[in-house]
Order: sequence, then C-alpha cells, then structure tokens
Amino acid sequence: VEQEKPLGLGHAVGLAESVLTDEEEFFGVMLPDDIVLPNNAMEQMVAVRNKLGGSVLLAVEVPREQTFNYGVFDIEATEEDGVKKVVGMVEKPDPADAPSNLVATGRYVLDKKIFDALRRITPGKGGELQLTDAIELLIQEGEPVHVVVHEGTRHDLGNPGGYIPANVDFGLRSEVYGPALYTQLKKIIANYEAEKGL
Ligand code: G1P
Repeated sequence: VEQEKPLGLGHAVGLAESVLTDEEEFFGVMLPDDIVLPNNAMEQMVAVRNKLGGSVLLAVEVPREQTFNYGVFDIEATEEDGVKKVVGMVEKPDPADAPSNLVATGRYVLDKKIFDALRRITPGKGGELQLTDAIELLIQEGEPVHVVVHEGTRHDLGNPGGYIPANVDFGLRSEVYGPALYTQLKKIIANYEAEKGL
C-alpha cells in the first residue's frame, strides 16, 4: 500500500493563517512533546519580539551528536546575554555539518510573514514541509529572527530516552507519588551502582 507523505510541521503552522485577524502581526506555536520549565519562555520571547521585531524561537544546548534530531541554529551574539541573532537554520543536519549545538525546542513566536514563506518552500527533510526551511527563507530575505537561550529544564517527550526522565522528574514532584518514588529511586540507583561497580 502506498503511504501518503506526512505533511509536516510547516503544513500545520500554515493552517493558523485562517484564524488570525488583520491586527494580529505575530502568533505563538507550542509543540506539546517539548516541555520547558519554568513556564515563562513564551513571555520572554514575546518581549524580544516587541523589542527586535520579526520572529523569536527558543533554543537549548544539546550535545553535538544529538543535533541530527533538531532544527539547528547558526547564531551571532547580540547585546543581550541570553538572546542571539539567527543567521541560518538547518533541519536535522548531520552532526558534522551542524552550525552549532543550539537547537530549536518547540516554542516559536512567528511573524505572520511566515505564511507567505511557507507557501514558497518545497518538501525538505523527510519529505515534509519544514517550518525550519520557511524560517531560513525569512532569514535569507533579511527578516529578523532571534533565539532566547533556555536556561531551565527541558524534556523531549518525543522519544523514550526523553519520556522516561520526564516521568521521573514530574513523578518526584507529585504530592501523591513523589515521596515513595524518591525512596524507590534511591534504592534502584544504589542497586545499580553496586551491580555495575560505579
Ligand atoms: C520539530 C522541528 C525541529 C525542532 C523539534 C523540537 O521536529 O522540525 O526543528 O527542533 O521539533 O522538538 P520533530 O521533533 O517534530 O521531528
């Protein structure tokens, strides 16, 4: 059976155009499989948008060998410490070609010019319409794109390697399950260390 190609994040974001009013110049996108704590990242990003215009994304640092899972930023410094100017963005590059180890993490404040850019891109990585490619097009056309570098916790629920620690982190903070989980985890870790001679 021939399967249809996935449409991708670029397609999904394009659907937002019909719900924006003429007065709304930018909008937010939050990918639910990325958890970002504390919860004020979008607020910080909107403040940067109001100051510098254009689009603002959230970046986290990952080990270089993991960059193939993400949209990766090529950046330059700005006057503000935690804010970088994006001069290029590439979707899921080979780690050897990654322009940095700062990657996009599921929070976007996008100028409405993104809709026009999304209409002009063709399917990219994985045959999907990539939001990253539309952002790269805006950058090439001189539109301002910045990132806020996230300093807090971030969980990627999109793969088991991220889903498991997220459950532990939230579980520990639960009033109901936290105390027992804490005790159990300490035992599990002690057993593990004894077994592995760590
Ligand atoms: C999407 C984006 C990617 C971004 C990632 C964050 O990829 O295409 O640029 O870094 O979300 O989680 P996905 O995880 O859907 O493959």
